[in-house]
Formats: sequence, structure tokens, C-alpha cells
Amino acid sequence: MLHDKLYAERMEVVKPSAIRELLALANQPDIISFGGGFPDPTLFPTEKLINVFTDVMRNNGGTALQYTSSDGLPSLREKLCARMKKTGGVDCTIENLFIIQGGQQGMDLVAKLFIDKGDVIVTERPTFLGGLIAFNQYQPQYKCCSMDKDGMNMDELEEILKTTKKVKFIYTIPDFQNPMGVCMSLERKKRLLALASKYNVIILEDTPYREIRYEGEHVPTIKSMDKEDRVIFLGSFSKILSPGMRLGWVVAPKEIAAKMVLLKMAADTQCSTLNMWLVDRFMDMYNIDEHIEVLRSAYLRKRNVMLKVMQEAFPASCSWTIPQGGLFTWLTINPKLDSEKVMKEHILPEARAAYVPGAGFFPLNVEHNHARVNYSCVPDEKIIEGINKVGAILKRLD
Ligand SMILES: Cc1ncc(COP(=O)(O)O)c(C=O)c1O
Repeated sequence: MLHDKLYAERMEVVKPSAIRELLALANQPDIISFGGGFPDPTLFPTEKLINVFTDVMRNNGGTALQYTSSDGLPSLREKLCARMKKTGGVDCTIENLFIIQGGQQGMDLVAKLFIDKGDVIVTERPTFLGGLIAFNQYQPQYKCCSMDKDGMNMDELEEILKTTKKVKFIYTIPDFQNPMGVCMSLERKKRLLALASKYNVIILEDTPYREIRYEGEHVPTIKSMDKEDRVIFLGSFSKILSPGMRLGWVVAPKEIAAKMVLLKMAADTQCSTLNMWLVDRFMDMYNIDEHIEVLRSAYLRKRNVMLKVMQEAFPASCSWTIPQGGLFTWLTINPKLDSEKVMKEHILPEARAAYVPGAGFFPLNVEHNHARVNYSCVPDEKIIEGINKVGAILKRLD
């Protein structure tokens, strides 16, 4: 190709994935897609946001349409500090907290700040594909810890930290992990902090699903137990309000936050002033907790619908996680099957349904017999139809 010699070295690892191309096929209107990690669009508070938009334009249009500072609107940051205290048990000030374009930008900024080529990031295995996409451009090496129903395996983490040089940070999604839907136990969170302290590494705590808990007890955030300023916390409005607004936040030690804001300034100057105003005023005019409560009960209902049909329709060789929150379950199918091949050859053409094949979630030692199955974005009757059809195929291939 004409430009091949001109591209930066980092582009060697920045490539479209086969799974993304496969998922593009799932975008046709007649496909029942359990693929995207999307919230249910019928639950967006659109009427309320029309009122908020009108209010902002009438009373503060000039400011809301103007540039603002790179760290974001102070009043929204103040509100988020109060929310961090209330829902996350974290004491912070607006010097620790700044606004980003969703958690995705937070992962990019953290990797840009800490990773030189060859440095090591420790992740869960499987882990969030979007995290790997953000990190890959900085050419890290990965070390991974396996997962069970209580989260990351801490013995494996200890072994990695003991034997590996240049570990910069540990990336974890402790609440309703993407893709598995499981939570890290309190005991493991404490051990994670102790290990990070012993080996002097940063913890990146990514929490977009934390507030969507519909069963069980909240486990304290890792950040709330951080006595040594080594946890960077990522929050997001994507799953509790709207992903299209592209807003999230970082809570970090002051010095790290200031450096990340410099990198954000270089990347995009700031988040949309208008969207920050909308969210800020939304939280003044309406009760966001009431809205989140509506989401919780809807997603609990959808989860129940999906797991019941799985129980009835899937062969005994299959198992799946029972998430107490979040948007998806992690399906394990007969180990003789490859979930990507099954989707391409049977599920898409015959069932007109889709999931995310699990392989892309493994940075190392890829396993092929898993899939992430989303229930938040599909109407109940379509969940029943789609899961029954997927089950019939899995039974036939079993
Ligand atoms: C674990 C995890 N982190 C981060 C994100 C990024 O979300 P956003 O950038 O919309 O806040 C997602 C989105 O699905 C996610 O699942």
C-alpha cells in the first residue's frame, strides 16, 4: 500500500478485529442481537431531557454553547464528588475529579500516561475488549489473571507481580464485569490493594455497571479503601443515563488527575459543554436515583426472562453466570464448539440472532467456547424467541 511505510509503528497493533466485522453483520434489522452492550433506548429519559434542554437554552444558552475548561463544569464535578461519597464511599474534591468522554477515554488517558512500549498491564482474563483496544496503541505486554465468580484470581496476581518487571497498572472491572457479569469480593479487593501496595503498582478501577445492581449487597469500591493514592477510578453516565452523551468521570490522586487533564486537553480540548450542562441540570431538575431504580427493575426482569429460557432451552453442556446487576451474562458452551464459528455458520443465518463470541475478550490463552450475551437491549418477547432458537442450535450441535 502507498502509505505503508509512513504509518507509525503503533499501527501494527491497531487493527480491526474479525469479531467486530462479524458483529457488523448482526446490525441488520431482522437480527435479534444479544451482541451490543447497549442500554435499553426505550428507558432513556427523553421527555425529561427535552425539558432540561429547553431550560438550559433559555437560561444559560450562551455559556452552554461556549468552550469551557478541560477538566469540565465545576458544578457537575461538585455533584459527582457528592455522589462518589454517597454511592462509592469515596472522599474527594474537584481537584481529584474531572469529566471525560466516557470511561473509554479514561482508559486511553491512563495508558497514555503510564505505558511505554513493552510495559506490562495486568488484566482479568477475560476482560473488556474496549479496554484492550484503548491500551493496545501504547504497545503494552499483557499478563492476565483468571476469573471466577468472585472476580480476579489473587494468587495468580501475586505470582505475576512477584515475577514480572515493569508492571505499571492492574486493570479491573470489579462490578458486573464485562464480559462475565461477576463482582470482585470484598476480601479480594482488600488483597488487591495490599498486593498493589507491596509491588508499587497502580490500580485502574473501571465501574460503568456499578450502580445497576438489582440483587445482593453493594461491595465497597476499591477506591474507598485506597489509603495510598494508588487507585484511579473511572465512572460513566453511559449505563445510568445515556451513552450517546459521551460523559464519564475520573477520580484520581491530584497529581495524576492534573497530568491526565493535560493529556485530555491535547486529545480533545474538553467534553461537550452542552452535554455537561444537560447532565448537570438534569440532576438539579430530576432525581437521577429514581431513574436508576427504573433501570434496575427493567434489567432484572430481562435477566430473569433470559436465564429462564436458557435453563429450558440450552443443552446440559452449557453454563452461564447469574449476574446480580449489569447488562449481560457469560455463556460457556460445549468445549468442542467454537462460538465464533457457530455464530457465523448457524446462529446468524438460521436463528437470525447474534451474541459476542468470547475469544476477543482474552488478551492471552484464548478460549473459544464462550459468548457474551446481552439482555438489556432486546424486548422480552424477542429474548424468548432468540434464546429458544439459539438453544435449539446448540442442542443440535451438542
Ligand atoms: C467495562 C467497561 N468499561 C468502559 C466502557 C466504556 O463506556 P463509556 O465510554 O461509554 O463510558 C464500557 C462500555 O461498554 C465497559 O463495558
